[in-house]
Amino acid sequence: MEKMPYRADLDGIAETLAASVTTVAAAGWRGALPVLRGRQVILREMRVSDAPSLFAMLTTEDVSRFISPPPATVEGFERFIVWAERQRLAGAYVCFAVTLEGSDGAIGIFQLRELEPGFGTAEWGFAIGSPYWGSGAFQEGAELMATFAFDVVGVHRLEARAAVRNGRGNGALRKFGAVQEGVLRRSFLKNGEYLDQVLWTILKEQWREAKVVWSERLH
Ligand SMILES: CC(C)(COP(=O)(O)OP(=O)(O)OC[C@H]1O[C@@H](n2cnc3c(N)ncnc32)[C@H](O)[C@@H]1OP(=O)(O)O)[C@@H](O)C(=O)NCCC(=O)NCCS
Repeated sequence: MEKMPYRADLDGIAETLAASVTTVAAAGWRGALPVLRGRQVILREMRVSDAPSLFAMLTTEDVSRFISPPPATVEGFERFIVWAERQRLAGAYVCFAVTLEGSDGAIGIFQLRELEPGFGTAEWGFAIGSPYWGSGAFQEGAELMATFAFDVVGVHRLEARAAVRNGRGNGALRKFGAVQEGVLRRSFLKNGEYLDQVLWTILKEQWREAKVVWSERLH
C-alpha cells in the first residue's frame, strides 16, 4: 500500500464518524485486534505510546521514499493511531504494530484496508524501520498478517501496490510469493510526479495451497 489511507485533513470527518461508530456493537477483530505471535515477531494493536518509535522508524528518507508521506510529527502519529482505531471500529481498516519478541517497541506497521465492502478484496501495506530490513521481520510479519487477512477477516483477494522503482518493496513481495498481475501506469503521485506501480496479488486458494511451502520457507 504505497498510499496510506490516513489523511490529516480528514481528522474532522473521523470525529463525526466516531460518534456513529461508538453506537455500533463491536465484534471480533472490529472490537479489538488479536495479538498475532510468530517466532520472533509479534503483531499487536498500535497504542498512542507507539507514536515516538513509529515516528523514528517510518519518517526516514529510506523508508518513506516510495510511500505516501507519513505523519510529519510525533503528534501526527498519535492522531494517526487514534484514527486507525476508529477505522477498525468502523470495520474498514486494520493496522498492526510490528514488535519483536522480548521488546515491546514498535518497529513498523502492517495495514489492511477493504477495497470493497466486506473485505472480499483488500489491500495490504507495510513499512518497517530500515535497521530491521533483511532481518526476516517482514517475512514473518507478512505471514502473520496474510493468515489474519484470509482466515479471520475473510479476504479472498489480497492486493499490494509497489512503485516500480521500489526495488526492495517489490523484492519482498516477490519473495513472499505474491503474483505480479501488471503495472498500474502513473497511478501514484509522489513529490509531484506520477509513478508507475506494480500490482501484486495473493488469492486465498493460492495461500491455502502454498501455506505449507510458505511455512517451511519461513521457519
Ligand atoms: C518493504 C519492506 C517492509 C520489506 O522488508 P525487508 O526486510 O526490506 O524485506 P526482505 O529483506 O525480507 O526482502 C527484500 C528482498 O528484496 C531484495 N531487494 C533489495 N533491493 C532490491 C532491488 N533494488 N531490486 C530487487 N530486489 C531487491 C532483497 O535482496 C530481498 O531479497 P533476499 O532476501 O532474497 O535477498 C521494507 O523494505 C520497508 O519498510 N520499505 C519501506 C516502505 C515500503 O517501501 N513499503 C512497501 C510498500 S508496497
